Amino acid sequence: MCGIVGYVGITPAKDILMEGLAKLEYRGYDSAGIALTDGTDDLQVVHRVGKVAELASVVDSMDLPSCCGIAHTRWATHGRPSEENAHPHRDCNGRIAVVHNGIIENYADLREELKSQGHVFASETDTETVAHLLEQYYEGDLAEAMFKAVDRLQGAYGLAAICADQPDQIVVARKDSPIVVGTDGSASMVASDMVAVMNFTRDVVFLEDGQIAVLSSDGIRYYDAPGHEVHPETTHIDWDEQAAERAGYPDFMLKEIHEQPRVVRDTLAGHLRDGRIVLEDLTLTSEELAAIDRVCIIACGTSYHAGLVARELIEKWARIPTSVEVASEFRYRDPIITSTTLVIAVSQSGETADTLAAVRLAREAGAKVFAVTNCMGSRITRESDGTLYVKANMEISVAATKSFLAQIVCLTLIALFLAQERGRLSEEEIDGLYHELCKTSPQIEKILADTSAIEEAATVLEHAHSAMYVGRGIGATVCNEGALKLKEISYLHAEAYAAGELKHGPIALIDEDVPVVAVVTQSPTREKTISNIEEVLARGAHVIAVATEGDTEITKIAEHVIYIPPIDDSFSAITASVPLQLLARFVAKARGCDVDQPRNLAKSVTVE
Ligand code: G6P
Repeated sequence: MCGIVGYVGITPAKDILMEGLAKLEYRGYDSAGIALTDGTDDLQVVHRVGKVAELASVVDSMDLPSCCGIAHTRWATHGRPSEENAHPHRDCNGRIAVVHNGIIENYADLREELKSQGHVFASETDTETVAHLLEQYYEGDLAEAMFKAVDRLQGAYGLAAICADQPDQIVVARKDSPIVVGTDGSASMVASDMVAVMNFTRDVVFLEDGQIAVLSSDGIRYYDAPGHEVHPETTHIDWDEQAAERAGYPDFMLKEIHEQPRVVRDTLAGHLRDGRIVLEDLTLTSEELAAIDRVCIIACGTSYHAGLVARELIEKWARIPTSVEVASEFRYRDPIITSTTLVIAVSQSGETADTLAAVRLAREAGAKVFAVTNCMGSRITRESDGTLYVKANMEISVAATKSFLAQIVCLTLIALFLAQERGRLSEEEIDGLYHELCKTSPQIEKILADTSAIEEAATVLEHAHSAMYVGRGIGATVCNEGALKLKEISYLHAEAYAAGELKHGPIALIDEDVPVVAVVTQSPTREKTISNIEEVLARGAHVIAVATEGDTEITKIAEHVIYIPPIDDSFSAITASVPLQLLARFVAKARGCDVDQPRNLAKSVTVE
């Protein structure tokens, strides 16, 4: 989704801003732009459709000595991708420029009002309204104008603005869209994502909703909505800087897939003590734990699929009824949530607008809400009753891989913890399951050591137009994520079905042109799934099976078999997901797709 970066200091801003934009590329965007003050009446502004490299090719040849500027990558919402619609947007006189993430919901009314006052618009965007509002309220102080402008805005915004009259200042504001700022005493930076400021400083402030910050070379001043100066807490970010580099891998997705053994180990580390699962961040009293009569998991996209795995495990071990809800539906459907519902909100980014809205709704209904996220300081951590961090480290590839596995591991620990606290599993059982769970890390290493069978299987999908993923139980949840990965990065239509549902409709689609990927690991329903594979074979389908080592029977029916090491079925989602991630990547590569930045997708969806 859109990205913001801004710099004000004592060295030229251009290169720092372009470097920041390059770091934000992974979020997904379709155009980019930059605006700099230069001490004259005008701002220097450049926009380009397409990649940041396009913008860089223009900007590189320009003499831009300014030490203050803002830049943006735009993911089109209001108005198609074009130079006119690319940010930064300017007021009528070109003296104020603004970049924006989010959606101004009342922009149409404001636009009409401002037009009637003589403002002339150059784009179709909601953002341009803010530039003209700032112009309308500007009386020599951009921060003052910002206070008045945001008062008129409905919707979500992360904003950064500059003004030719105050060439060494950036004014930023936020509501429901992340903004992070930091200073080193001689320069200050703003960004919508930590990755763009990490090289500059690790001590940052996550702006709160309603706050406004004024950045200059000698520091940052913060104000609350009524305009009183405030002194927010600084957060130190300890993410590994190398996570933002490809470290020799051809793309971030492959690098992140290969990090998974480490991610699983790190997420598990320290949670078994004296034979008991310890989750200090799940701060529930024993009375609260005993009273839980339902678990509700809320998430979007890949995180939702991690939730589906968790439902299987929580119900199986803790015997607590569990539902998994797509956040965008949950927030509008009058769900039944009470003070005895344990709500778990799963979000890699911690900034997904729908998930945040669902969290608020659940808390208003009296439930305790715990976040499972990868991002320190993200919005969800501040809106929940507690946060369990997964240890994926920064994930750059838009298609989530390592964060997904880390979420499953974290949710598995929650399931074990609930079972333990409710007396459903003995200490011995917990210990056994935990140690089995630990085996997944070396098993993933083994899967990654030889991916030739997966690469071969990819040839079946490469020229297909549609694919079907089938499995049962945990295998079905794995299929949901496998099919999503294929759609996301190879633009190949794929559907995931519980194998038993095939005959109730989707089997009508099956013929030799619709390959079937079957997850058929050792599980109580293996034989049933084999019968379903026979059904699709009878319709001419090419079958790729993900099966357990030693299962030779499967080679008699599947054209391609991808083996994973034997593991307790409860943990098979962790290992069986890995070949499906790689399968999607091999197919995408063969089809010439950009696996790290798939079209139309964004890493963090901060609009509804
Ligand atoms: C976007 C991303 C997906 C992600 C989903 C939920 O659509 O492209 O990869 O699964 O958002 O994101 P979250 O950060 O809440 O897990």
